[in-house]
Amino acid sequence: MSQPLTKPNNSLTSKPSPLCAFLFLIILCILGFYAVHYPPRNPQNDLLFHQIFLSSANNNTISSYLRSLTSHPHLAGTKPSLETTHYVKTHFKNLGLETHTVPFKTLLSYPLRASVSLHFDNGTVLNLPLNEIGISSYAPSGLVQPYHAYSPSGTTQGDVVFVNKGTEDDYRALEVMGVNVSGCIVIVKKGGSLSRGAAVEIAEKKGALGVLMYAEGDVSRGSFRFGVERGTVMKGVGDPLTPGWAGVEDGERLELEDNKVLDRFPGIPSLPLTFESAQVILESLGGPEAPQKWRDSSRSKLSRVGPGQVMVNFIYQGEKKLATIHNVFAVIRGSVEPDRYVLLGNHRDAWTYGAVDPNSGTAALLDIARRYALLMRKGWNPRRTIIFCSWDAEEFGMIGSTEWVEQNLVNLGAKAVAYLNVDCAVQGPGFFAGATPQLDDLIFEVTKKVKDPDSDVATIYDKWTTMNRISNIDRLSGVDSDFAPFLHHAGVSSVDIYYGRDFPVYHTAFDSFNWMINFADPFFWRHVAVAGVWGLLGLHLADDPVLPLNYLSYAKQLQEHKDVLSSFVDGSMSLTPLDASIQELASAAKRANDEAKRLMEQGFTDDLLVLKVRALNDRLMLAERGFLDTDGIKGREWFKHLIYGPRRNHGSKLEFFPGISDAIAESTKLSQRDGQAAIRHEIWRVARAIRRAAVALKGELT
Ligand SMILES: *[C@@H]1O[C@H](CO)[C@@H](O)[C@H](O)[C@H]1NC(C)=O
Ligand SMILES: *[C@@H]1O[C@H](CO)[C@@H](O)[C@H](O)[C@H]1NC(C)=O
Ligand SMILES: *[C@@H]1O[C@H](CO)[C@@H](O)[C@H](O)[C@H]1NC(C)=O
Repeated sequence: MSQPLTKPNNSLTSKPSPLCAFLFLIILCILGFYAVHYPPRNPQNDLLFHQIFLSSANNNTISSYLRSLTSHPHLAGTKPSLETTHYVKTHFKNLGLETHTVPFKTLLSYPLRASVSLHFDNGTVLNLPLNEIGISSYAPSGLVQPYHAYSPSGTTQGDVVFVNKGTEDDYRALEVMGVNVSGCIVIVKKGGSLSRGAAVEIAEKKGALGVLMYAEGDVSRGSFRFGVERGTVMKGVGDPLTPGWAGVEDGERLELEDNKVLDRFPGIPSLPLTFESAQVILESLGGPEAPQKWRDSSRSKLSRVGPGQVMVNFIYQGEKKLATIHNVFAVIRGSVEPDRYVLLGNHRDAWTYGAVDPNSGTAALLDIARRYALLMRKGWNPRRTIIFCSWDAEEFGMIGSTEWVEQNLVNLGAKAVAYLNVDCAVQGPGFFAGATPQLDDLIFEVTKKVKDPDSDVATIYDKWTTMNRISNIDRLSGVDSDFAPFLHHAGVSSVDIYYGRDFPVYHTAFDSFNWMINFADPFFWRHVAVAGVWGLLGLHLADDPVLPLNYLSYAKQLQEHKDVLSSFVDGSMSLTPLDASIQELASAAKRANDEAKRLMEQGFTDDLLVLKVRALNDRLMLAERGFLDTDGIKGREWFKHLIYGPRRNHGSKLEFFPGISDAIAESTKLSQRDGQAAIRHEIWRVARAIRRAAVALKGELT
């Protein structure tokens, strides 16, 4: 196949003479003519290429990519991290792909010094080990000591209280026991629904002076009990100095002392602990007996919740500094619709070696690039543009992807068909997926075509549906990977897939190549499976003449959300506006599906039909943007998506409609009348958002 429209704008860079400009215009006209009259693609050919894609899977190449990427720890902003940047870029270049790097200058955070000592009533002082046991060297290998990024520096001393998982319920239980954590250092067992940052935020609100955090882990899958979970405690996403705009080298930057910046960081220091060091504190505590259900593990030495018998002196010193981060991109220009983008993204930076998090995903991404390049040598060219994205500084709060999305908001809003994310691609057995609902059908179709890595005959779909009975696709309300800026800020339909869940070496020094081959994927067939699903999703979205987006699934899912919501609000609250807008979306979806079927039957015989397909595709692409609201979610205005996004109230059980969820949680603090009014307003906002999506899908002015 010939390649029209490949990078014609290169010639724009040199100063054209009038003759050149004239010739250039003529060439542009010819290219434009050619683009419109591009010979219809043969769907059989696309299928053939999809087959070649599947059959060119190779566990050995994926394994070698992972080995190279994980040879050193590569924390964002450090030299070894820059080496992974070059590695990924060189890989793309060697495949002959158009490659570029986009740097940003952003505020990162590193530890300088930390210590935790116990002071017993009898005068004994005990310094607790804070680093992972069994790791021979930290500094020489480049391993960063365990810390919480963006924790303030500080020296604190006080009584200690165990607050279980640190939820509001846990503090209420302590209150009943007569324990007030105000002025104390709290010790939190990480897990359950609270994020690290949320646990610190609640502790601060309760008057705690500092937070020590440990995780229980799973000894059967590697020596996690010695591992320590690093992580960020920053609120929100993206560079704190450039909220809402891109952190480019010479751009505007807020001062570190700006209140908007300070609001992003916790007010009290926190630090992660080893399981062993945490037990030394727990077994020393006085005070009331701990409830039985807080002592859920046989290894736990907890008996009393504190305070008493022991004080803790806890010092943390860190530095926040500007560092250059690098996103790497490889682009395969679409042959028919170069101005429509399908993005496959994964972050590259890691807390330590990053074998699971995130480089199992990077290895899969690099292998998809290898296989797409192979298809290109066999004559394939995607209909739409495919963009591989390798993000930096995700671990600090999705910084690389957020800055880039902020920089490219208009182009993404107008042209991004879908964003396909993979982060911790391989954690263990079992397929998991999250997506915006219009992509559900495509995920099911694709998983029917990829072999299950743990079975000789079954497909991923077979295994997935038998394991979970019904296959279950999560929704993407969480803010825990790079889909967040795409979906929550730009309204781009998104997918997130992975094998296995809750891996025990998360963010520890043991997330290494060795752990991967010993515990998660000895022969790299789960990597192959993720790459298969991910790459095939990309091929369909890039090649299918009519975009495989089904909004009937969205309407059905919204109806289910509405039913769940009705059990949370009292009977007097009318949900009729939601019902009406969901009906409208369902009927627009049905019309769009019928139209798609009709167009497919007619084939692409003339230009008018080609334009009609393009118009339908635009409506399918843009409908997701309807869920955005310029005002955003109250109190977190950067988050614009009213269906999926983070809720402020961590105890809320609603995993959708974040604005409604917050209004319900906060209504208890208002008079009944004001509380009801606030909830009603949020219900109307969601109803209007759904209606906007429906109108965009219909594509007609009201
Ligand atoms: C002080 O108390 C701690 C904890 O109960 C104990 O481990 C230590 O041996 C005691 N030291 C002395 C000198 O009694
Ligand atoms: C806990 O103690 C602080 C400081 O003494 C006090 O202000 C606060 O009201 C107490 N909280 C509860 C729930 O009693
Ligand atoms: C690839 O798979 C084969 C067959 O399962 C296996 O023998 C080989 O060791 C695998 N390669 C790697 C690097 O694990």
